[in-house]
Amino acid sequence: MSIEIKDHSSSKRIKVVQIKETDLDKLIFPFNKHSIQSLEYKPFSRFSLAKSVDDVFSGELSKVLNNTLKDRNTGTAIVEPDIKNSKFDKDFLVKLSTALVYLVGLPNFDSMTGKYYARFHVKHSDSSDSYLRKAYRNLDLHTDGTFVKEKTDWLLMTKMEEINVKGGESTLLHLDDWEHCEELSTDPVGKENFTWGSPKSKNIEYKVEHPVFSQDKNGKTIISYIDQFPEPKNMKQGLFLQKLSDALEQSKNKLVFPLKVGSAIFSNNYFWLHGRTAFKQDMNLSRELLRIRGVFADQN
Ligand SMILES: [Fe+2]
Repeated sequence: MSIEIKDHSSSKRIKVVQIKETDLDKLIFPFNKHSIQSLEYKPFSRFSLAKSVDDVFSGELSKVLNNTLKDRNTGTAIVEPDIKNSKFDKDFLVKLSTALVYLVGLPNFDSMTGKYYARFHVKHSDSSDSYLRKAYRNLDLHTDGTFVKEKTDWLLMTKMEEINVKGGESTLLHLDDWEHCEELSTDPVGKENFTWGSPKSKNIEYKVEHPVFSQDKNGKTIISYIDQFPEPKNMKQGLFLQKLSDALEQSKNKLVFPLKVGSAIFSNNYFWLHGRTAFKQDMNLSRELLRIRGVFADQN
């Protein structure tokens, strides 16, 4: 079975992988072999789940995902399963998301939930300590894993549910499309070590040090940045971060688009930044997201 790949309407850098209902049907049987609990408790079961998905597509899906995520010119895949039929429930999406990430590598332990993945809601009211769940505020462009010791090569975000939602579009920006990349990545302050902490809900007891900008093995600029968690040591660092934040949010090349329920954004975390626009006020707003972050692995 071949898969359909298109360029996303907002950018050729984003490859859209559409999965038809007839192909999703073929996943039901292998998915029934694994409960969510067994996937959580037995890491090896996630590999067999992933293999069964790749077999449905004759090995093409793992190739497309790996090529797209590792290529500097692309770096983001959006996987769009046709889940209109209610037989494709939330457990199905957890399993599909698990399979997708195991086709490119290994997930990091998510300290926020104590699992290899996290599911969380955005609702009308919120008492949490970060912008992640604040519905009526922009989640500014950022990368993930800025305040942890583990490498974060990629992240996957699956939209599990959306009720009474207006706004809350996905935002993405590729570093090579950003007008201020050259100016800010060559500023000496951007290469200084910053201290990165995190609020209590993240369950990370330590702080890390790293610069905002560095270079990959090919000499290309990469970024590790989120607005809330760097702790500037002085005026120079504080002003640099303000300039950086403004230059990212004001970029004319920021992509803003709606993401369908069931779809997953799968992005390289070194040269793509991600975020979300504010939701429109609604007392009954509810949106659920699943996220998995991790590292690339050899497929041999
Ligand atoms: Fe994020």
